[in-house]
Amino acid sequence: MTTGCIILAGGAGKRMKSERPKVLAEVLCKPMLGWVLDTATDFGFDKIAVVTGYKAEMTEAYIASRDGDIVTCLQKEQKGTGDAVKCAAEVISETDCVCVLNGDAPFIDSDTIRAALACHTEKGAEVTVITAEIAEPSGYGRIIRNNGEFSAIREQKDCSPDEAKISEVNSGAYWFDSKKLLEALPKLSTNNAAGEYYLTDCVEFMEKRAAYTSANPKIVLGANTRKALYELNTIARNDIIEKHMDNGVSFVATDGIIIGADVKIGCDTTVMPNTIILGNTEIGEGCMIGANCHIENCNIGNNVRLDNVQAYSSVIEENVKVGPFAQLRPGTILHRGVKIGNFVEIKNSEIGENTAAGHLTYVGDSDVGRGVNFGCGSITANYDGINKYRTKIGDHAFIGSNTNLIAPVEIGDSAATAAGSTVTKNVPAYALVVERGTTRTKENWDKNFKRKKK
Ligand code: UD1
Ligand code: CA
Repeated sequence: MTTGCIILAGGAGKRMKSERPKVLAEVLCKPMLGWVLDTATDFGFDKIAVVTGYKAEMTEAYIASRDGDIVTCLQKEQKGTGDAVKCAAEVISETDCVCVLNGDAPFIDSDTIRAALACHTEKGAEVTVITAEIAEPSGYGRIIRNNGEFSAIREQKDCSPDEAKISEVNSGAYWFDSKKLLEALPKLSTNNAAGEYYLTDCVEFMEKRAAYTSANPKIVLGANTRKALYELNTIARNDIIEKHMDNGVSFVATDGIIIGADVKIGCDTTVMPNTIILGNTEIGEGCMIGANCHIENCNIGNNVRLDNVQAYSSVIEENVKVGPFAQLRPGTILHRGVKIGNFVEIKNSEIGENTAAGHLTYVGDSDVGRGVNFGCGSITANYDGINKYRTKIGDHAFIGSNTNLIAPVEIGDSAATAAGSTVTKNVPAYALVVERGTTRTKENWDKNFKRKKK
């Protein structure tokens, strides 16, 4: 049996008051559509299609930025969820069974979709809708049952007062028999309160209907407004922090801590307040991260200490200490035992084992050996205004305070630069380079010259 997935992402989401399509609104800094695509990828459908519409080019650009084989189908005018599914007719006809998902309901998971498929197959259903009971059903489609048998989905706007009291709602996720869905779609009309083609009306054109009721009410939650989006963020934030606690991660307080859905953290690591960890970041065991760190797409080893650090697309090996107040920009690799102190910025550079840059240093586009010491205020001048060049520093070199290394330049192993030097030529191994003006001291200058002028 071949399975397809159609993700509805064409709506404008007017209630969000945004210049972007609603499905790109983010929960924990990942677009809602990204959550749904991750779930679909995790399930392993034979085909995944996303229906785009409002500002389709933005949704398409996001999809293109991700890995995976995903087709997009354009819905030119937003005439409702039923019309959106019609736009993916080709994908439907290529599969036996399709799962339709809402692009604005990020918490649906692959286990639920799998369990619903088992129910769908077992009952020989033509449609199986995934439902849940929720405390505040307002806004969702209600599940109408006749003597317990699922018969229809009624949209909020079309509910009678009695129907509005029903707390079992439509998640917006369904399994359909592909052939039956293609037969039902042309029968939809706009004869309803919204004047739209409702996908939910397909149910009534099918004979064998099933409802798979999930015990987890979160799977239905969607966001049509900023308030709802904030609620989704709050739920996801707490759930993820609790998951890490279950895995042995410590939190003294969770204030201001935001951890993205794909972050991995080892046991006995502590995350301190106001720390944001996002993207595909992996953190090892026994680390102390925070307070006040922002980390994106980093790979961090065991026993690392980060204090007030910003780190992006960097590799930090075990026993490294960074901070307070340091920035690691993309392409930074800190090998074991490196120490980076306050007001240091590293960019696109590899720093060898046990090298130290304690204070006020900029290292950009550099290959630095082991055991190097950067004195306070030393910098690499990697940019001449047009091009960028690399600086190479050998093992155990000593870079004196306030040294300017004008790239391209090489400092040999165990070489030293005198404090205040501006180094423009390569320095051989074991040499000391001094680049300063001769000291001139004018005796009694204050008395003889300055006072006379006054
Ligand atoms: C829909 C369901 C409702 C369910 C709820 C769950 C219908 C008619 N109603 O309502 O029963 O409880 O989801 O969240 O399906 N979209 C398009 N093209 C369109 C319209 C919408 O692609 O023309 C997309 C939207 O981008 C969105 C999804 O379809 O991702 C759902 O649309 P939305 O308008 O949010 O439906 P709800 O009113 O939430
Ligand atoms: Ca919605």
